[in-house]
Amino acid sequence: MRRFADALLATRKQAEQFGVEVLRSTLDHIYGGARRTYSGATLAELDRLFDEPLPETGRDPRRVMRECRRKVFRHSMQMSHPRIFGLFNPAPLPVAALAEIPVAFLNQSVDAWKAGPAATHLEMRLIRWINDRIGFGRRAFGVFTSGGGVANTIALKMARDRATGARARRTGLPARLSRRLRVYASGQAHFSIGRSLDLLGLGEASLVRIEVDGAMKMRVDRLAETMRRDRRRGLVPMAVVATAGTTNTGNIDPLRAVAAVAGGHGAHFHVDAAYGGALLFSSLYADRLDGLALADSVTLDPHKWLFQPFSLGGLFVRSRQALSDSFRIEPGYLKKDLEAEPDRLDFYHYSLEGTRPFRGLKLWFTLKSLGRCGLGRLVDRTMEVAQHLEREVGRQACFEPFQTPVECASVCFRYLPRRWRRMSEQTLASPAMRSRLNRVQIRIQQEVERRGFAWFPTIVIGQTVFFRFGIFNYLTGPGDIDAVLAHISRTASQLGF
Ligand SMILES: Cc1ncc(COP(=O)(O)O)c(C=O)c1O
Repeated sequence: MRRFADALLATRKQAEQFGVEVLRSTLDHIYGGARRTYSGATLAELDRLFDEPLPETGRDPRRVMRECRRKVFRHSMQMSHPRIFGLFNPAPLPVAALAEIPVAFLNQSVDAWKAGPAATHLEMRLIRWINDRIGFGRRAFGVFTSGGGVANTIALKMARDRATGARARRTGLPARLSRRLRVYASGQAHFSIGRSLDLLGLGEASLVRIEVDGAMKMRVDRLAETMRRDRRRGLVPMAVVATAGTTNTGNIDPLRAVAAVAGGHGAHFHVDAAYGGALLFSSLYADRLDGLALADSVTLDPHKWLFQPFSLGGLFVRSRQALSDSFRIEPGYLKKDLEAEPDRLDFYHYSLEGTRPFRGLKLWFTLKSLGRCGLGRLVDRTMEVAQHLEREVGRQACFEPFQTPVECASVCFRYLPRRWRRMSEQTLASPAMRSRLNRVQIRIQQEVERRGFAWFPTIVIGQTVFFRFGIFNYLTGPGDIDAVLAHISRTASQLGF
């Protein structure tokens, strides 16, 4: 394949030969059982690896593939490794990952029906399935997005337009409302809520952070008090955002009670279930989302805890009309009345995005292959592993669990060096001790990461650093948990803690 024409893989035979090689190499890597979670390559090493001028002439794609193995595969975070406990990065289901091959070749854009007819109808059906699980009625709708952050932005745009009226779409925030709109969310809500308010011209200061209780859930009494007080001061409650599966600890706000308060003030009720929404598929834990059906909009990211490759987020709304009122636009080149069937559905009327990939196919493959029960069982399995971890860190003297109940697959805890295990909580909480202990956690995490035995992030809650483990690999088992806890203790001793 030395000639340019060969590199185009224009014949079926050439494409197949190369395709088989790409697939083989990828599967060798994925099923070959990477020993380390990360190679340990430094920034400088990675820079050097890719430091070359733009190639003027091409080369055999098979050589490019070999280079990709050497440079990219080797120095990737190995997401399918059973000891990756990271940032909602799942081990993707092979059936979903392989569905990305037809997605790329078919190259449907699901913004306009005419660029993706079957894709549009498939995604509409998936949206219906998810809305039925949520408990929304027939008028519900939704749209797949690049992720939860964008879904949250779309939801808050709907909320803004509901509060300001449709004119704001043309003329911006009316003077009478500028600086008076307020959005309420717990201190644990995802940063994309504040960023969305910035983008929408309300400013991050319009976000009112409501205190959480000891279980890291929004305090509904505080929400009610704050909204009443703000109304008395002439402020306008635009939306209340509850989180189902917080980023830090995976806790779920009391959705039903929050819905009642939001409804009492006529505010849009949005639930960011980007993470915890996966529980809808579980037969054992779906009731943890009680009250979700009362939302006006729900963010749910299958690319988190439903084991889909990136990217696949989604926004699901009670009213299709409200979503369309907020996003409908008729550019000349896509005009409806030029079409044979004006009832064709164009997703760009319901989204921030124009041209976008056919994201739904992988989830359709997954649900058709595993069924709702099968996918739900995988969620349950990760939950069991999280419960095992919760028990172990509660039982072993060298660990201190964070005090929340485990509601999704996240477990937060920290390591206690031997000499500090008998100290009172009060002593450990003193600023000097806390910052020493914080440094211990950071040092251990960095060392475990460097060795490539496992990967997990540290997070700061209040001013205290914890390890945050998320179980997003359906193949991770209790044995992996035992191994990583033992590794942490061993590493800590070797570091002199
Ligand atoms: C609760 C929650 N909402 C939204 C997001 C944003 O999702 P994405 O990164 O897919 O945009 C995250 C990401 O971690 C999250 O934890």
